[in-house]
Amino acid sequence: MSEQSEKLKTESEFWDKNISEMLSDAERADLFVADNSYDDKLKPQLPFYGLDKAVKMCLDLLGDLNGKKVLDCGCGNGFMSTLLAKKGAQVTAIDISEKSIELTRNRALVNNVSDQVITVVMDFEELEFEDESFDFVVGNFVLHHIELDKTGPAIKQVLKPGGKAVFIETSAQNRLLMLARDGLTGRFGVPKYGTDDEAPLSLEQTQILGKLFDGKCTLHYPSFVFFRLLAGYIRFFKGPTMMRLVYRLDSAIYNMFPGLRRFTYYKIVELGK
Ligand SMILES: C[S@@+](CC[C@H](N)C(=O)[O-])C[C@H]1O[C@@H](n2cnc3c(N)ncnc32)[C@H](O)[C@@H]1O
Repeated sequence: MSEQSEKLKTESEFWDKNISEMLSDAERADLFVADNSYDDKLKPQLPFYGLDKAVKMCLDLLGDLNGKKVLDCGCGNGFMSTLLAKKGAQVTAIDISEKSIELTRNRALVNNVSDQVITVVMDFEELEFEDESFDFVVGNFVLHHIELDKTGPAIKQVLKPGGKAVFIETSAQNRLLMLARDGLTGRFGVPKYGTDDEAPLSLEQTQILGKLFDGKCTLHYPSFVFFRLLAGYIRFFKGPTMMRLVYRLDSAIYNMFPGLRRFTYYKIVELGK
């Protein structure tokens, strides 16, 4: 088996398992996606990490979605695809994991938007769409799973002229967080999420995208997530009081020191064609 197909197999098996575990705890009501809430009920921890703000910013960057054709890459549990459809978009959701595609289809059905969501098991690195077929391409936490020099041009190719791609990603711009991630996750009882093939998106990787998109690459930092993540890595910092404290500390830094925002763990990459 080639290295690439080995990687895809690992990814799809990992995410199939992840989705199955998520579903075993989920209620049907958890599949519901509210029109104007940016919280995914299947992942209740996300607002703590500011990801509701990231989803909101992503939608704001896209603007009017009514009737727009949107490709959701690495759709996972289908939250974003469903939300986009609820905002009026015609969504094509792809993922390498069959279970993710199954759940995305089911979630669209539960939310009465199945006529607006097409689901396909497809490798993001081998997009099979006609050129210029989408107004927008989106993806949450997927760019850092794939080879950008191959996928970057493919994203550009499927975008219509004037189209836009927006990705929410983990970011490698904070060295301290990277050291903690590399040294602590998977050890000392600190859980490790994701496969060994993935790593947060570096500034150099976004520069590659910037070149591919003729400089039309903007990075956005929707919140400052630093102490919240460190507290998760260092198990000594636990409990609701500590969690409130680190949340407030991060929020204060975001508001008082805009220059530090780029050291957050989550960033948004906006690409224009
Ligand atoms: C971190 S998860 C994010 C899922 C979802 N976007 C979310 O935010 O919950 C990454 C997703 O990318 C998918 N993925 C990884 N490599 C892929 C590839 N080459 N092509 C398509 N999907 C891929 C995985 O199966 C998984 O569902």
